[in-house]
Amino acid sequence: MTDTHLGQPTVDIFAATIAAAIGSWHLVGSGDKHAVDAAAVDAMRASLRAANFGGVVVIGEGEKDEAPMLFTGEIIGSGQPLEWDIAVDPIDGTALAAEGVPGAVSVMAACPRGGMMSAPEVFYMQKIVTGPAGRDLLDLDYSPEQNMELLAEALGKPVSMLNVAVIDKGRNRDLIARVQDFGANWVRFAEGDVAMAVAAAVGDVGVDMLMGIGGNPEGVVTACAVQALGGFMQGRLMPLSPDEMSHALAAGYDVERKYDLEDLASGERFIFVLTGLTDGLLTAGIREVDDEMHLQSFVLDSDFGEPRLLEVRIPR
Ligand code: FBP
Repeated sequence: MTDTHLGQPTVDIFAATIAAAIGSWHLVGSGDKHAVDAAAVDAMRASLRAANFGGVVVIGEGEKDEAPMLFTGEIIGSGQPLEWDIAVDPIDGTALAAEGVPGAVSVMAACPRGGMMSAPEVFYMQKIVTGPAGRDLLDLDYSPEQNMELLAEALGKPVSMLNVAVIDKGRNRDLIARVQDFGANWVRFAEGDVAMAVAAAVGDVGVDMLMGIGGNPEGVVTACAVQALGGFMQGRLMPLSPDEMSHALAAGYDVERKYDLEDLASGERFIFVLTGLTDGLLTAGIREVDDEMHLQSFVLDSDFGEPRLLEVRIPR
């Protein structure tokens, strides 16, 4: 593996996403969502057994996975002080990985203990994400048109050149129509809103803004990256079914509340690592070259400043 000069816990987080990507690669394109996800989870879990930091999985595989690690509430690292909140998404875009199409990634994020929002009873979140230009300017409570107009002005380009990513789901149909009617370019994607939201916060990879309702855990993972990038994000819990709503209310969540970036992830340091399985906006996917596997990881660590794109070569 490349000598990356990464400190702790970044180096272990990086290694865990690499392990998940390699461990599930043989099932990419297999058509079997569960198998590819399970392989990634197992490989990430095995990699984290050797972790040299102490953390608690705040966003994990959840109640449905009875595995001994990566369960929400699970402790990572034996004997070390518990200094980190950890979020794992061994594959974001499981369906994409199963189909072998672009956009599947392995992701892990961390921030200091107590800094990560956890609302596991709620599956969905309404989100708005941009780069630094959106800070102190945009607002989830403004209309989509107002936000698009303000951002286009701040970026010094016409709305017709604004690229707005909205995940292509029925619940976002009205928003997508409004983006198109307003004259902005809808960046269409079917799954995987972590990479797309982070691309919006990076700013120079063809996405200016992400809006719409996607996954709630994915929103918190994204918030760690947006913090490290100095970008803008707000979110609102969005229980969609009556069941989800009653669980959310029973757990005491305020479903009207607008969460600022600081509410989603806070602290002195933010870490986010995304490793590509299939090609994406932030990284290339895995390549088999002769007797090696080539991988790319997008690494953010607020202690180190700029994002880094690391290349990894592993013998097959
Ligand atoms: P998984 O890979 O965990 O299935 O998540 C894919 C994803 O597209 C996320 O990126 C997104 O936030 C979420 O699903 C949206 O949920 P749904 O597919 O239920 O609309």
